[in-house]
Amino acid sequence: MTLYDLAAPGLDLRDEPRYRIAEIRAADPLAADPVLAAVPAMNADADVPALTVALRALTPTPERAASLGVVDALAAMRDLGILLGSLKRHGVQPVAAVPEVLPVLEELGRRTDMVPRDTVHHYTAWNPLGRRQRMYTGDPMEGNLQDAVRMVFPSLVAALGSCAELARREPYEAGFAHTLDRIAQQVKSMVEAIDFTIAQVSPVFFAREMRSYFEEIDVAGSDYLGPAAAQVPLWLVDLTLWQCDRGKAEYDAFLDDSVRYSLPSWRAHYQAHKGGVSAVSKLSAALSWESANRLPPRLAASAVSLARVLRILKTFRARHITIARKAYADEVRLYDAGSGGAPIELLRSVLDLTRDNETLVRRSAPVPSPRAA
Ligand code: HEM
Repeated sequence: MTLYDLAAPGLDLRDEPRYRIAEIRAADPLAADPVLAAVPAMNADADVPALTVALRALTPTPERAASLGVVDALAAMRDLGILLGSLKRHGVQPVAAVPEVLPVLEELGRRTDMVPRDTVHHYTAWNPLGRRQRMYTGDPMEGNLQDAVRMVFPSLVAALGSCAELARREPYEAGFAHTLDRIAQQVKSMVEAIDFTIAQVSPVFFAREMRSYFEEIDVAGSDYLGPAAAQVPLWLVDLTLWQCDRGKAEYDAFLDDSVRYSLPSWRAHYQAHKGGVSAVSKLSAALSWESANRLPPRLAASAVSLARVLRILKTFRARHITIARKAYADEVRLYDAGSGGAPIELLRSVLDLTRDNETLVRRSAPVPSPRAA
């Protein structure tokens, strides 16, 4: 049992087919289990003919794709996706090699209201565990990378609700600090996930073995990125904390590109909040009316809680950048850009933005030092 299984059951209760994790994992609408079990061996042999035959064999007719419910359509996209990424890793554009997959990818994209290829959610949260786990390489380190992302999915979903609530609150209300304290508990999973990754996944393995499977593919003239961890929607949390009105062009552009790989309700959340006033801006405005030595207790509590969440995000990003730097070091890397389509410098810039916002909040109010908090 993984940490993810311990956290996942709550999600199944929600009225959204994309959160019916257990059902999606169990689904095998294309009867793909035996073929996908052989994919790691095909990849090890760079056996493009076998991968092409496998993709052709699994591709359903567009009519059959159109008849699938959302749960089965997500599972079908997951299973075709492993072959799309595998072919591209060996230098073959999968849609050019198997043209009949194009209308199916488009139909599955429409049915699930997502991009017409697999995403990080297909590759991790919706991927079965154990014997049926879909993998490119079969290496335990690939499984660890998948588990790291599985660990954060449930708490980020929960954080989405908390962030929507935070956006409705003001720093003078007790609920502002309480909501931030809940978000702090939720985003801690990002720190646990990156610590797990650092301990269990070698940067050289990522750079030399995994990175190539996350290359973009061409679908009807548009490029779609592979199922990279950079699609993990931490931006959902940044958005209401600081990004919606305190972002910078580089990160704003990355978000504009990344949002399309997320779930429909998360895209709606982005549209609803991107023109809003961030928690950091609300707090700064409130503090500017007060004397620093005599802050109303609720406002002081809001500042403490906001600084705490920002510090957790900063900790994730500081640790994440260490492994990313190793994987993209000159002597190791095969690619200049990350699998999310952005250069490594983006990580430095997002870390700086997170740190600047945390420093602003911490300095503008008598917030206890990190050790005391
Ligand atoms: C060997 C492991 C990893 C490496 C080498 C790596 C590398 C990178 C790189 C280079 C980027 C920049 C954007 C891009 O890819 O185009 C990025 C972004 C990102 N990665 Fe990773 N990553 C790893 C694991 C993870 C894991 C396990 C998670 C989450 C559980 C994660 C979450 C993110 C997020 C959220 C971003 C967006 C930028 C941000 O919010 O700071 N990464 N990663």
